[in-house]
Amino acid sequence: MSHSLYTKAFHSGTLKNKRFLITGGAGFIGSHLVEYLCVHGAGLVRIIDNLCTGKLDNIEPFLRMPGVEWIEGDICDLNTCMQACEGVDFVLHQAALGSVPRSITHPLQSHATNVDGFLNMLYAAKEKGVRRFVFASSSSVYGDSPHLPKQEEVIGKPLSPYALTKLINEQYAEVFAKTYGLEYIGLRYFNVFGPRQNPEGPYAAVIPLFMKAALLKEMPTIHGDGQQSRDFTFVSNAVKANLLAALCEDKAAVNRVYNVACGRQYTVQEIWQHIARLTGTSAQARYTAPRPGDVRHSLADISAARQLLGYEPEHYLEEGLALSLAWYRSLYVPNQ
Ligand SMILES: NC(=O)c1ccc[n+]([C@@H]2O[C@H](COP(=O)([O-])OP(=O)(O)OC[C@H]3O[C@@H](n4cnc5c(N)ncnc54)[C@H](O)[C@@H]3O)[C@@H](O)[C@H]2O)c1
Repeated sequence: MSHSLYTKAFHSGTLKNKRFLITGGAGFIGSHLVEYLCVHGAGLVRIIDNLCTGKLDNIEPFLRMPGVEWIEGDICDLNTCMQACEGVDFVLHQAALGSVPRSITHPLQSHATNVDGFLNMLYAAKEKGVRRFVFASSSSVYGDSPHLPKQEEVIGKPLSPYALTKLINEQYAEVFAKTYGLEYIGLRYFNVFGPRQNPEGPYAAVIPLFMKAALLKEMPTIHGDGQQSRDFTFVSNAVKANLLAALCEDKAAVNRVYNVACGRQYTVQEIWQHIARLTGTSAQARYTAPRPGDVRHSLADISAARQLLGYEPEHYLEEGLALSLAWYRSLYVPNQ
């Protein structure tokens, strides 16, 4: 594991006596959490995933490591969630159907996994006495609020079924904390990217699509004028935030949500230019209609995570793109 992104520890002390459940652990972000916990010798790394968008390939190197348990199962089944939470200290809940466009096409599926499945996990965590429930929320909860940078307490109205599911997650977690005393931390990820993020299929995110286009010397598609902006966040930052959230001992820091981002804003056009430079492609982008449900600008205020969790971004955009490119190269131009 010497070439892992995670040889540096984001936590202090040992993880040997700590037992984690990672839902959606065969997916993009979940597989990075699995990697981190394996590299640092967590006592239990239990993974649950139904492989609907995740892949066993993402976690294949870790499955035979000591302390790793694999459950192929669906969080929409309460019994499965109860079994998965048995003997666990920390849940890192990542399983969900991502993508705003997917939720617009398939709102019932998004609701079933992201709301009913979430509630099953929250309930199972409470019933099984889990110490803390850390979960993936999303910057999409800021919805139509024009306020920039995004501060946790100023949200607008959701612009998509996906955004609504994540807002409901936050509200359910708060109610469970108040009603049953279940500790939680919600992490509002802002456009996470990195190795293992799927570049295929109709709901692929923009950076994987740009990586693929650049490496195959194809024209990338930009929705809208390319001036929409995002706080693109390399995946190591999301991993760090999860570890800090799970292990933080300051009670003033729990039972709330945090932005997880870099606090820097880039337009989609700039991202393409950056990737084009890194790969040496001269392909020009093709522009199509803007996508419904997309917000125009997004930029996080990360001072709450800084102050209360001790979070500091680990890798900024440029380094993250270079690290990601190496992985996409191995996928598309393996002999170069
Ligand atoms: N990638 C981002 O930019 C981003 C931004 C904001 C929030 N998030 C959230 O972060 C989490 C992880 O996202 P990701 O980008 O790694 O996506 P991903 O699709 O790669 O991972 C999600 C995983 O959950 C699994 N899953 C889905 N439904 C399931 C079910 N019913 N039962 C069990 N497993 C199920 C999938 O198979 C997949 O492995 C999600 O909750 C997502 O909404 C991601």
